[in-house]
Amino acid sequence: MADDLVTATLGDDERLGPTGDVYPNVTLGAGTVIEPGARVGVPPRGARPGEHVTVIGPDSHIRSGTVIYAGAILGANVQTGHNAMIREDNVIGDRCSIGTGAVLEPGNRIGDDTRIHSQCFLEHVTLGNRVFLGPGVVFTDDPHPMCPRFRECVLGATVEDDVSIGGNATILPGVRIGRGSLIGAGSVVTRDVAPDVVVAGSPARVVRQIEDLTCHAGLYERPYVWRLPREAE
Ligand SMILES: CC(C)(COP(=O)(O)OP(=O)(O)OC[C@H]1O[C@@H](n2cnc3c(N)ncnc32)[C@H](O)[C@@H]1OP(=O)(O)O)[C@@H](O)C(=O)NCCC(=O)NCCS
Repeated sequence: MADDLVTATLGDDERLGPTGDVYPNVTLGAGTVIEPGARVGVPPRGARPGEHVTVIGPDSHIRSGTVIYAGAILGANVQTGHNAMIREDNVIGDRCSIGTGAVLEPGNRIGDDTRIHSQCFLEHVTLGNRVFLGPGVVFTDDPHPMCPRFRECVLGATVEDDVSIGGNATILPGVRIGRGSLIGAGSVVTRDVAPDVVVAGSPARVVRQIEDLTCHAGLYERPYVWRLPREAE
């Protein structure tokens, strides 16, 4: 272990043994567990250890293999799977989960109760509350890659509250996905999506309204009726 690391003494669970590597200037909330093999507060290129503040709120669980760079801010009760990577300049709300092998490049802003499944890739993305990303969802942020001025360009997508995105969908730069919509598995989303619609295909097109979906198992009158009424929030 490098000299500039400190070892956190967190969590009451003796079975976990020693914690992962925690750099200086990392604030960990009470009850947060950093599993052995995780690294938190890793300095980004050119930064000194401890130069940037890193925060993980209480009751979070950072699993082995996860790497969180200095400058990331995570809320309370955040879970990571194994080998997730969270770069600097990420802000993540409460009760989120970041799945195994997910990659969060810099510039993401993520609301509360949002679930990012295994192997997702996000850069410069804004996600609202209660967003679901299925496995392998990819967000892109540069319309004409390797443009030297891409940082002045459209950058990432915006996903409003209560959106669900099916596995392996690809979201193109700058797209806005409206509240409550559902993106079919494997879709390529090239244009903005209105609220409360289902889109599918490549390029993704509206295939129906959310209210026209059928609960095939017959468990609900129709899918998503279990959501809170919007005015009740
Ligand atoms: C888009 C989706 C919501 C549509 O569900 P649905 O309304 O029950 O649709 P159906 O299965 O009745 O299919 C309707 C038509 O759309 C097509 N379709 C369904 N999903 C599609 C998709 N992802 N991409 C392209 N076409 C799709 C079907 O082939 C069917 O076409 P047809 O009428 O010509 O036979 C669903 O197929 C889907 O992709 N859900 C996301 C699943 C997922 O990734 N979950 C992640 C958690 S693990």
